[in-house]
Amino acid sequence: MAGKKRYYITTPIYYPSNKLHIGNAYTTILADAIARFKRLTGFEVHFLTGTDEHGLKIEREAVSAQKKPQEFVNEIVAWIKELWRELDISYDDFIRTTEKRHYRKVQQIFTRFYEQGDIYKGKYKGWYCTPCEAYWQERQLQDDQSCPDCGRPVELIAEEAYFFRMSRYADRLLEYIEANPQFILPPSRKNEMINNFLKPGLEDLCVSRTSFSWGIPVPFDPDHVIYVWLDALSNYLTALGYGEDDEKMTRFWPADLQLIGKDILRFHTIYWPIFLMALDLPLPRTIFGHGWLLLEEGKMSKSKGNVVDPMLLSGRYSADAVRYFLLREIPVGQDGVYSLEALIKRINTDLANDLGNLVSRTLTMVERYCGGILPVPAGQQEDSDRELQKLALNTPAAMERFIDELKINEALAELWKLVRRSNKYIDQNSPWELARDPGKRGRLETVLYNLVESIRFIGVLSGPFMPRLPDRIWRQLGLSGGAAGVRDWNSLQRWGQLKPGTAVQREEDLFPRLNLGRELHREIRSEKKVAPEPVQVSSETVPAGDEEEAGGLITIDQFARVDLRVVSITAAAIVSGADKLLQLTVDLGPEGKRQVVAGIARHYRPEELTGRQVLYVANLKPVKLRGVLSQGMLLAAEDEQGRLALTTLDQPFPSGSRVR
Ligand code: MSP
Repeated sequence: MAGKKRYYITTPIYYPSNKLHIGNAYTTILADAIARFKRLTGFEVHFLTGTDEHGLKIEREAVSAQKKPQEFVNEIVAWIKELWRELDISYDDFIRTTEKRHYRKVQQIFTRFYEQGDIYKGKYKGWYCTPCEAYWQERQLQDDQSCPDCGRPVELIAEEAYFFRMSRYADRLLEYIEANPQFILPPSRKNEMINNFLKPGLEDLCVSRTSFSWGIPVPFDPDHVIYVWLDALSNYLTALGYGEDDEKMTRFWPADLQLIGKDILRFHTIYWPIFLMALDLPLPRTIFGHGWLLLEEGKMSKSKGNVVDPMLLSGRYSADAVRYFLLREIPVGQDGVYSLEALIKRINTDLANDLGNLVSRTLTMVERYCGGILPVPAGQQEDSDRELQKLALNTPAAMERFIDELKINEALAELWKLVRRSNKYIDQNSPWELARDPGKRGRLETVLYNLVESIRFIGVLSGPFMPRLPDRIWRQLGLSGGAAGVRDWNSLQRWGQLKPGTAVQREEDLFPRLNLGRELHREIRSEKKVAPEPVQVSSETVPAGDEEEAGGLITIDQFARVDLRVVSITAAAIVSGADKLLQLTVDLGPEGKRQVVAGIARHYRPEELTGRQVLYVANLKPVKLRGVLSQGMLLAAEDEQGRLALTTLDQPFPSGSRVR
């Protein structure tokens, strides 16, 4: 019996040097979408990510945080794992370079290189870029003596060190690259590597340091720690149990796809394959260097403090929406620009208008015209039916082709052809007109059945990109329970798999439309400063505008910038470890729900609050209070005795109504 097709995909392992930004998250979201798509199409996938925890950079950051390196990295790694959970990253293994399984094996690899004569001892004199953890020769530096990769200052070092004889393998590598056009992608990156590094001649690489200690010691010379890139690159093998677990190595090595950002291409397409050759291992099938995610004003950088925090963004707009945006907007090999405006526009056009409307219109009609029961497609087939079916049946293979070429944005564009075609099908067939004529009942039922069936295709195919969406669709289509057979890849081979008679149920909109102007006002950027202590409830603290007018007066325009709304409190709970704070869920009607942390726990018990309508500031910049995201503020009055009263309405009002 033929075994299951296997697929080993890796991301780089991240430096836990600071909180990751949306650019870092991009690599992992991309890898996750591919891993999920491969699983959907029947592959046994092994998806690896992790953290790169050693080296001078981390050691220095730990010192400045006044922590021991291990303690320092542990905290950040916990946060990174939380971020991957928030973004629905379905990794199969998370490797940390401080783990024993890695540490031990890297020492064995180093010893093997030494024993077979690939590594020799010498003296290094040259430049080092600590942020990139990279060695440079004088002639490679920029005119102002800075790092050619990141432009930051380099340091002169002179120390005893071990060197790897890169020159031994350079010709073999060049031949391999030329003979395997799929090895380095996109092709332009391959030429860059050949012309800039291989052709001019490869120098031997310094692979140990002695002037700091946060790293893996060279086992036979413990004053040296192993160069962090040799340590880090080995993770792709050590995570498979290299040298120990032959079964896992044979199952998954060589890797099918190693996805990285273009800034770390040299390490992955020159040093890494040479290390593999020295270990007598086959090379990965493809190393793909994706482009950069930029801001409109240029590069995102922690030092400039202009990074976008993926955790806040996902908390505000949902992981599905953020993932969709990044995957749809950026052609994978190229640089892309992140802007909140572009994100909101994608949410409003693709997700709310195209997809959200398709589902809500269709299910509203099934409820209205068929009592919420999926009808039997009884009428004659017409051209528009055949066209819709043909497109739906062709979409999976078309998407698969694009995924295999790593054209993720085009795979999504393909899916959206089906979404838009389905909307057009509604307009072509005008079910509301068919419903007026009892003679056209059969046709009406056929049209509605076809629409729900098309949504089923879309539900299956959207999962790799927006992992939470399918379940939300299945619930509405009545397919949550034992209907697995209609939610998988194989079920897309034939049209008409849905069983008539199933009860559908329309829920709230999948992606509520957002108000662009309002969202731009509360643009989410990572705070460089620590979030302020909450003054979450006060009748006096309504933010009024940028400048204070003379005498403390504000203009009506300044007041109008405050987005005041009526909300209903739907859930309330104490924030653990904080005696003043309650965590509340408030309902904004058509705009969905928000989470608010309010300092009212000494005045109200949670159970007193649910069901109440109160006034709420909807366009406050989100903050995290005691680790809990707070999106907005409730209004209350406070007196000198410290009494507090929430502002309420004198009659029930629709949630989300504006207050002026
Ligand atoms: N630790 C090394 C990788 C070692 S792999 C054996 C490293 N880590 S990193 O945390 O700095 O970067 C992780 C990933 O984020 C890399 O793929 C990098 O290219 C990517 N990005 C960092 N900034 C980015 C953007 N602005 N845009 C897109 N990707 C970006 O490098």
